[in-house]
Amino acid sequence: MTTASAQANPNIAFIKYWGNRDDALRLPANGSISMNLDGLCTITGVTFDPDLSADHLIINGIAASEPARRRVQDFLDHLRQMAGTILYARVDSRSNFPIGVGIASSASAFAALSLAACAAIGLDLSPAELSRLARRGSGSACRSIPSGFVEWLAGAEDVDSYAVSIAPPEHWNLIDSIAVVNRGHKGTTSSEGHRTAWSSPLQEARVAGASRRLQSCRRAIQERDFASLADIMELDSNLMHAVMTTSTPGLIYYLPATLAVIQAVRRWREEGLPVGYTIDAGPNVHVITPAEYADPVAERIRGIQGVVQVICAGPGSPARLLRGDYPVSNAPERCPSLE
Ligand code: PMV
Repeated sequence: MTTASAQANPNIAFIKYWGNRDDALRLPANGSISMNLDGLCTITGVTFDPDLSADHLIINGIAASEPARRRVQDFLDHLRQMAGTILYARVDSRSNFPIGVGIASSASAFAALSLAACAAIGLDLSPAELSRLARRGSGSACRSIPSGFVEWLAGAEDVDSYAVSIAPPEHWNLIDSIAVVNRGHKGTTSSEGHRTAWSSPLQEARVAGASRRLQSCRRAIQERDFASLADIMELDSNLMHAVMTTSTPGLIYYLPATLAVIQAVRRWREEGLPVGYTIDAGPNVHVITPAEYADPVAERIRGIQGVVQVICAGPGSPARLLRGDYPVSNAPERCPSLE
């Protein structure tokens, strides 16, 4: 039996990934840029065991649904092929934030799984190779491997589609105050959503403009230019949701409270507060602000009707291995509850 554990942060995309050129390989239609979210984390333990006759998956202490287990099994099949082994694994994963609601839980989960599974099976991969591997599990997971502010280079094929750090966490103390308006699981998963993206008449235009938006976002991060970051981030989020809404079937992730937060953020910005919003595949709103404004902004968000929780996170570190066979039952030690 061989065991290893790893920890990873989720990330929030400032320039979004939506739609693949190749669904099986998860080669994205366009590059993307994100920030890892410190304090939010997934810890995953992996044990390859010759006594197992199938892969087992536990999420937050409960046996996972069959579709979730199959997704992990498909991912591990790829890894087994790379490592030249036929051993099945027990995967035990815990996250300290709501999962499946647009806070990129699959990103931290597959990043931690990639690192732990490679260590457990004895595969020594470079950071780029690890990021490529994580991408196979969930596209955005490739961005949770490197540190801080991260760009996923779309690439043309498997070998050149991976993420790199463009600035360390200490480069810019931005805070993401996540306005949670619904803790329930979203109806349509992002994997299903990616497949419908091309049915929208707007997807081609969104993809065509992505390299210009990536350039603006990269520059805004490098120069710590918050006003430009907020403008490009909101435009990119609105473009992605326009594609979602106009796909067949149409996907509307917003709830009434989502719009209430968007409108409040726009009002605060007009009043001179440096704030901007971005929304992933779920109803919760990520409100980004420089750290010195984070407390009053979080307080204002709490006052909006329909907001059930506000979770605050700064720029996070890379995915990392935990010492020895760190048991996942000890996860609350490293990943305390956010309640
Ligand atoms: O990695 P996935 O398949 O969960 O897709 C993530 C999609 C968005 O969160 C909506 C955008 C992004 O770039 O993270």
